[in-house]
Amino acid sequence: MDPKKLKGRSLLSWKDYTPEEIRYFLDLSKQVKAEKKRGERPQRFVGKTIALLFEKRSTRTRCSFETAFGEEGGHPVFLSSQDIQLGAKESVEDTARVLGRMFDAIEFRGFKQSTVDTLAKYSGVPVYNGLTDAFHPTQALADLMTIEEEFGESKGRKLCFVGDGRNNVARSLMVICSQMGLDFTIASPRELFPDAEIRAICEPFAKKSGSKIVVTDDPASGVAGADAIYTDVWVSMGEEALKAERTKLLSPYQVNAKLMAATGKPSSIFLHCLPAVKGEEVTEEVIEGSRSRVWDQAENRKHTIKAIMLATI
Ligand code: CP
Ligand code: NVA
Repeated sequence: MDPKKLKGRSLLSWKDYTPEEIRYFLDLSKQVKAEKKRGERPQRFVGKTIALLFEKRSTRTRCSFETAFGEEGGHPVFLSSQDIQLGAKESVEDTARVLGRMFDAIEFRGFKQSTVDTLAKYSGVPVYNGLTDAFHPTQALADLMTIEEEFGESKGRKLCFVGDGRNNVARSLMVICSQMGLDFTIASPRELFPDAEIRAICEPFAKKSGSKIVVTDDPASGVAGADAIYTDVWVSMGEEALKAERTKLLSPYQVNAKLMAATGKPSSIFLHCLPAVKGEEVTEEVIEGSRSRVWDQAENRKHTIKAIMLATI
């Protein structure tokens, strides 16, 4: 894989990349983390600017982009939907063309996948999906990095996502696991199963990589043999009105000590993209317990996001 091929590319979803390219991003993420731990401060973004567009709130993603870009000498500019005309007074296409003339790259977090796709199509600079209703690809790269830090190789490992199986995090994990040869199970209520479209996207990847994709409504059998159990909030941003319904549907899917034990593997770890609602999707005991890797996972957001920007800008 020639890394030069990545220059100028956007990251909208991992479905647009090859496993070799994803491997390159992962290895570069580990390299930039090691540099940071050694106290090195390379200045690879000097004189460069990135626009950070946020329609939804963020702690990790915003801070990862801002600190990763800034500490390399670049200038990040945070723009919430209160600040710019995007989609309100000005079309996404026009905003894209203007920002593309001023910035070296654009990050977008918001509702519609079509917004980030349009920004990529019209801006002429790399655009990164910092979370939409459909995908959260930068998160999935950090998750895979965390799994590899724990177990060495990730290929052949089993990850089980327990909870809202149709959300952005679950969908992105399905894409990256099927691309990279991890077995991936979703355990969720039938009402929240991933749709046929995402499964159809992932099936050819899984066939090629040898990954096994399973969707079940039974959490105990879903997590059996899992090296990592992953969960996310029951109610994603923008779906707050569904809180009561989701709580009813998802209460049997809480990740607790009993479910962790149902992996049958004392070595299995707990992952969560955060923010977490302790006592809902995960118990305090599990998230604060010895098998939880959520803080490493959060830190790895920054290293992976830095690697994505270094590879593509
Ligand atoms: N995991 C994640 O994306 O966190 P933020 O919403 O805080 O960015
Ligand atoms: N599924 C969650 C992820 C937050 C990082 C949401 O969209 O709110």
